[in-house]
Amino acid sequence: MTGYGWEREVAARLGSSVEARWVVEQAEATGGGEGSVRARVDRLVDARLGGEPLQYVLGEWSFRSLELSVDRRALIPRPETEQVVEAALAEVHPVRDPVVVDLGTGSGAVALSIATERPDALVWATDVDPEALALAGENLERVDRDTPGVVRRVRLLGGSWFDPLPVELAGRVDLVVSNPPYVSEAEWGRLDPEVRREPVGALVAGAGSDGTPGLAGVEAVLCGAGRWLARPAAVVVEMAPHQIGAATALARRVGLDPVRIVKDLAGRERAVVGRSGPP
Ligand SMILES: C[S@@+](CC[C@H](N)C(=O)[O-])C[C@H]1O[C@@H](n2cnc3c(N)ncnc32)[C@H](O)[C@@H]1O
Repeated sequence: MTGYGWEREVAARLGSSVEARWVVEQAEATGGGEGSVRARVDRLVDARLGGEPLQYVLGEWSFRSLELSVDRRALIPRPETEQVVEAALAEVHPVRDPVVVDLGTGSGAVALSIATERPDALVWATDVDPEALALAGENLERVDRDTPGVVRRVRLLGGSWFDPLPVELAGRVDLVVSNPPYVSEAEWGRLDPEVRREPVGALVAGAGSDGTPGLAGVEAVLCGAGRWLARPAAVVVEMAPHQIGAATALARRVGLDPVRIVKDLAGRERAVVGRSGPP
C-alpha cells in the first residue's frame, strides 16, 4: 500500500488497481507534503481519464534494463522493439568495439540500450524530429547518471535517416538498426485513440516504391544502408508483420545476404535482418 492510502479510491476512478498503484507511486516519488502529492495524484488521474496513454501520464517507462523519460515528444517504446534490440545485439556479438547506427531514435530507447549493454560500442543515433531528439538527449543524460561514460559513446544527430552521419563512417558501420514509422495513413485512422496521441511522424510512413502501405521508412533504411555498412555487417529493421514479405524481397534486391526474419514474443514476424557479406 502506498503512503497515504488513496489507492483504492484512485483504482475506482481509473478502473484499474495496477494503474492506480503506479499513478500514486509516481505522484509520491516526486516528494512534497500531503497536499501537493494529492494535487499531483488528481492531475495524473485527470490526464489518464482524458485519454492520455498511461506511459505519458507517468512520464517514464522501462525499456529493457533502462528507465526512460517518455512524453508526447516521442513514441512510447514498445516491448516488440526490446526483441528487435535483442536480435541487433546478437548480430554484433562477436564484433569488438562495434560502430552502431540507430535511425529514428525517438526517446533514444534502442541507441541507449545498445550503448549500455555493449559498453565497447560507439552509437550514432539520428532523428528528423528535433523534439524527439531533445527527449533522447535528456534520456542520454539520465542513463549516464547510472552508467557513467555512456554520454561519450552516443552521438545524437538531427536529420533524415543517414543524412547527418559524418562521411568518415561510410563503410565502417557494423550494425544499422531502426524502428522507423511503418503505419499507413489509412491504418493510422483506425488506430486506438490513445495510440493516436503519439507523434504522427513517429507512426505514419508513405507507401514503399512497390506500393506496400507504410513501407517508405523501412525502404529508406534498407536502400540507404549499403554505403555505410562494413563488410561483414548487419541491418536490423522493425516493421509490421504484413510488410515482411516486401521488405525481405527489397533487402535481397539491395544485395543483403543472408536475410532472415525475427519474430516478436507473440510469434508475429516483426523485423528483417540482412547481412552485408565479407569483402
Ligand atoms: C516508430 S518511432 C521509433 C522511436 C524509437 N526508436 C523506438 O523504437 O521507440 C520512429 C522514429 O523515426 C523518426 N523519423 C521519422 N522519419 C524520419 C526520418 N526521415 N529520418 C530520421 N528519423 C525519422 C520519428 O521522428 C520517430 O522518432
